[in-house]
Amino acid sequence: MNKKTIDDINPQGKRILVRVDFNVPLDSARNVTDDTRIRAALPTIQSLMDRGGRVILMSHLGRPKGKVNEEFRLAPAAKRLSELLGKPVAALPDCIGDEVKAAVSQMKDGDVVMLENLRFHPEEEANDPAFCQQLAELGDMYVNDAFGTAHRAHASTEGVTRFFDTNVAGYLMKKEIEYLVGAIENPARPFYAILGGLKISGKIDVIQNLLDKVDGILIGGAMAYTLLKVQGVEVGDSIVEEEKLDVARDVTDAVKKKGVLFLLPQDHKAAAEVKEGVTPQVIPDVNIPKGLKGIDIGPKTIGAYKQKIQEAKTIVWNGPMGVFEIPAFAEGTMAIAHAVADSSAVSIVGGGDSVSAVHKAGVDDKITHISTGGGASLELLEGKLLPGLAALTDKNS
Ligand code: 3PG
Repeated sequence: MNKKTIDDINPQGKRILVRVDFNVPLDSARNVTDDTRIRAALPTIQSLMDRGGRVILMSHLGRPKGKVNEEFRLAPAAKRLSELLGKPVAALPDCIGDEVKAAVSQMKDGDVVMLENLRFHPEEEANDPAFCQQLAELGDMYVNDAFGTAHRAHASTEGVTRFFDTNVAGYLMKKEIEYLVGAIENPARPFYAILGGLKISGKIDVIQNLLDKVDGILIGGAMAYTLLKVQGVEVGDSIVEEEKLDVARDVTDAVKKKGVLFLLPQDHKAAAEVKEGVTPQVIPDVNIPKGLKGIDIGPKTIGAYKQKIQEAKTIVWNGPMGVFEIPAFAEGTMAIAHAVADSSAVSIVGGGDSVSAVHKAGVDDKITHISTGGGASLELLEGKLLPGLAALTDKNS
């Protein structure tokens, strides 16, 4: 990565304003139910503390739309962080203003505080310069470790950087970029991408960007039915994005032109209705009869995909193969999760649903890199520049 990192700064005695992504799920008692993102930021926070920095954390939580909302207070995240660090982390009542400034001025070297949800202020998402300045006044240096929010050009991820001479990446940001960009630009081959999910519209740019880089693309999920339909396959009552048929045709042509391996499901699991309690039937053919919806890849397809996964040296997986939230329709996604975990390839999983699938399969520790970013990892796979990353200081400057 060609950006400066926290290894390039001396935080001793300095107020370090750190953007983290603590947008974590909470239960009804407001306890953090998945602390992955908090744990992922620990190396950065710990390093800054150990080196005598005064760590001022800022994050959003949920989408409170510019208003204070009790449901989205960051205190539960601060509490969880405090448990993980084994030291108090004060949750401040706001992210700007006199009370916050006063609390920050009381900090000692090695202390950590958590500002209140940035999105309680509409100026955060509007990237308002005056708000950026107020945030910037809290720190002497800026660190961005919020990979999950790096695709947003918000005040705390982009605008605030204009008020500092040097803006650096935290270790999580560095790791995510090294895997997601590094693996794609310099992959060990063969390199296969496994793409799934509901909509082809959400993956068109990914397919187009990866065409020049991969040796093959394996498709699953409902998006497969739109692609099958343009090939003249009967897809029954499966979900098809009718308004995207032209785009699906273009992608199919582009893939053919490139000569990249492009695998679509050749058999299916299908049912009349997609709901709990329904037992799906295996459709051993590529065509799905009328009255049935495709909801998972079938055994033949699982076998073919597993074979490719075993051959792979690099795998990027984004999007489930079926409606895996319902156990009867989860076989394809679980089989792919286990195959990816068992392969000796460098394996990178991004996107909320495929990450949940990996958790569900219990194979997290056998995946090389599980991204903490959903939208951000997708935008990187689409070849887009992430504003939160672009705003950081280049290594050679
Ligand atoms: C995420 O969970 O993907 C990030 O925290 C970004 O959240 P957002 O989609 O609400 O901007």
